[in-house]
Amino acid sequence: MRPTRSLSRTLATFFLTAGCASFDVVISVSAASSHGPSGSNDTLTWGPCTGYPAPYECATFGVPLDYARPSVGNTTLAIIRLPAKISPRKGYMFYNPGGPGAPGVDYIGQLGGTLQQQFGEGWDVIGWDPRGVGGSGPNVSLFTEFAEYDAFWEQIEGAGKPEARGNLTRPSDVAFFRSQASVFDDFGKQFDAKYRAKRGDNLKYVGTCAVVRDLVGMVDAIYGRGADVNFYGSSYGTLFSAYLTQMFPHRVGKVIADGVLDAFTWTRTPITAGIPVDFTDTEKVLRAWSTTCASSTNCALGTIGNHTADGVISVIDGILNTAYDVYDGSKLSLFDFIANGTAPTYSPAWSFYLLTSFVENLLYGSSNWLFLDSFLSGIYAMQNNATATLNSRSEVNHFLTTANFRLSRRSMSGPWADMSSVWSQAGFAIACGDSQHPRSNYTTATLFEQVIQVAQNSSPHFGTLLVPRWLCPRWTTQAVERLGDIRSIPYDLNIKPKNVILVIGNNADPATPFASAQALASKKRLGSKARLVKFNAIGHTTTSNPSTCINNVIRSYLEGDLPEDKGDDAPDVICEVDSTPFTQPSE
Ligand SMILES: *[C@@H]1O[C@H](CO)[C@@H](O)[C@H](O)[C@H]1NC(C)=O
Ligand SMILES: *[C@@H]1O[C@H](CO)[C@@H](O)[C@H](O)[C@H]1NC(C)=O
Ligand SMILES: *[C@@H]1O[C@H](CO)[C@@H](O)[C@H](O)[C@H]1NC(C)=O
Ligand SMILES: *[C@@H]1O[C@H](CO)[C@@H](O)[C@H](O)[C@H]1NC(C)=O
Ligand SMILES: *[C@@H]1O[C@H](CO)[C@@H](O)[C@H](O)[C@H]1NC(C)=O
Ligand SMILES: *[C@@H]1O[C@H](CO)[C@@H](O)[C@H](O)[C@H]1NC(C)=O
Ligand SMILES: *[C@@H]1O[C@H](CO)[C@@H](O)[C@H](O)[C@H]1NC(C)=O
Ligand SMILES: *[C@@H]1O[C@H](CO)[C@@H](O)[C@H](O)[C@H]1NC(C)=O
Repeated sequence: MRPTRSLSRTLATFFLTAGCASFDVVISVSAASSHGPSGSNDTLTWGPCTGYPAPYECATFGVPLDYARPSVGNTTLAIIRLPAKISPRKGYMFYNPGGPGAPGVDYIGQLGGTLQQQFGEGWDVIGWDPRGVGGSGPNVSLFTEFAEYDAFWEQIEGAGKPEARGNLTRPSDVAFFRSQASVFDDFGKQFDAKYRAKRGDNLKYVGTCAVVRDLVGMVDAIYGRGADVNFYGSSYGTLFSAYLTQMFPHRVGKVIADGVLDAFTWTRTPITAGIPVDFTDTEKVLRAWSTTCASSTNCALGTIGNHTADGVISVIDGILNTAYDVYDGSKLSLFDFIANGTAPTYSPAWSFYLLTSFVENLLYGSSNWLFLDSFLSGIYAMQNNATATLNSRSEVNHFLTTANFRLSRRSMSGPWADMSSVWSQAGFAIACGDSQHPRSNYTTATLFEQVIQVAQNSSPHFGTLLVPRWLCPRWTTQAVERLGDIRSIPYDLNIKPKNVILVIGNNADPATPFASAQALASKKRLGSKARLVKFNAIGHTTTSNPSTCINNVIRSYLEGDLPEDKGDDAPDVICEVDSTPFTQPSE
């Protein structure tokens, strides 16, 4: 094992080299400290939860809006806990499901038992709504009525925007795509102005750094001042894992990052720079799905595609191109369809964009694989037969309720399709507010050019999907504290935490590529203070597929049994999935 660089040397070196740099914000709160944040409540009181029966217990927790300026005021966070089933308890684990903007109380309320089975019955499982999300303050919701929200987004989607044929290789397609940039730019301005008018200063208090201070404060209050922070972050939640190692290296207990979002691009570059990074593996996922489908006996698209992966992909391309060619800019009335209970025939409102949004989201988990097949083959049938209808009503319902789709217009519904969860409403404030240079020359137009590059070079089907970030160039509020501005944190995010963290990346993840997990665990960043687990799975995070191997690795890690460090940037452990819903490919 390589020796851990001493913290004081890290800091001294950094101050020397950074001495001449100027910083936008100088944070007086000590970062990279061994102490918890001050200003949050010292204790909290557990009581019954609304909606989740005992043994679940809930509490609220008081935190300052701005840790550096306590006089600004306080707000409260909603917390839920599923206590250990045995006494004395073996440990406690805080969990965040991602987003940004996913409410942790509902997540743990629904899945706490599953997590507790994974961790062991001796573990407390704790979730909370991060700042601005769900039941936690400050309130950053923009819309309260679905209709109001829908009408706002329809201004762009109803106008036929955004729309692009994914690979953007035809000059006319590129020209059309570019022509939408100014509409988006205006929309971004309106969006920012509307948010500021309604939520003003609240927007700047929901940044990721503050959430990490909240997490440490909760550990102090619940498990004792200075106790180890045990935390499991999934997807965007992995930023908390990464930030924690940098902001509170001496508080790091058992920390897991599952499905890693690249902390470096999030922290050190404009948020939009994540676009080329995050979709690195999305095409790989589509190809892996197509390969499995092609060789399976129960995948209809495999039959249409003559049982080859190329055949399946060409059928999908045909579906998408037809959608692009006949798209008329109108709104798809899927919600009406659910309400009316009638099956739609093919509508020119199906856009390339809408279809790929669904496909990308259905690729998140293997439990959606069969549905992805029936959905695509249903669209194929409708496109080729004027009287065919889209499967059954229940299947479309499945879409709207379980698929984690993020359409521009409906990006606030997500898996918790409930306005009160302020899903992506907080997401915009968090993602754009954390961004390093929102007021720089990083314009909507340059962003469109970047998307064109990605679509042409690395993600011909999905490159144009990262819509929420399209609004960041016009977002004017920055979080009061951003990791990139904390002077004691080195540029390369390579402060070594007290304990080894577990970093897990899927071989083919549509949203958080393996390369991002590898980067976090690499010598350049956490090195010997991380173990890298490669999950040979298709989908987003370890929740994508059942795996006894993954369960064992996590359980062993929690019990103090670290995987052997292979000493390089290669995976220390490789895990397989137990099974997939398709029959295994026959060679
Ligand atoms: C801590 O709790 C008390 C009430 O018990 C409250 O008055 C105080 O404002 C809280 N502090 C924070 C940071 O919320
Ligand atoms: C915020 O909480 C702190 C610490 O508990 C307390 O001293 C302060 O009075 C609170 N501020 C407000 C505005 O309640
Ligand atoms: C936020 O404010 C809206 C009203 O604009 C309200 O409906 C909603 O319940 C508030 N959310 C929270 C968590 O207080
Ligand atoms: C882009 O899409 C068009 C239309 O489907 C297709 O003809 C072309 O081969 C694709 N190009 C690439 C590089 O995928
Ligand atoms: C499948 O094979 C048939 C017969 O050779 C051919 O007409 C069709 O184009 C093929 N489809 C695909 C998607 O390759
Ligand atoms: C559903 O019903 C409404 C009201 O009758 C009608 O306007 C709408 O077109 C219907 N939508 C579908 C998809 O049938
Ligand atoms: C078109 O779809 C209708 C309704 O599902 C079906 O009855 C009919 O057989 C289909 N026609 C062809 C040529 O597949
Ligand atoms: C932003 O401006 C700087 C300096 O003027 C320039 O070097 C850089 O290329 C610009 N970036 C973009 C994305 O246009």
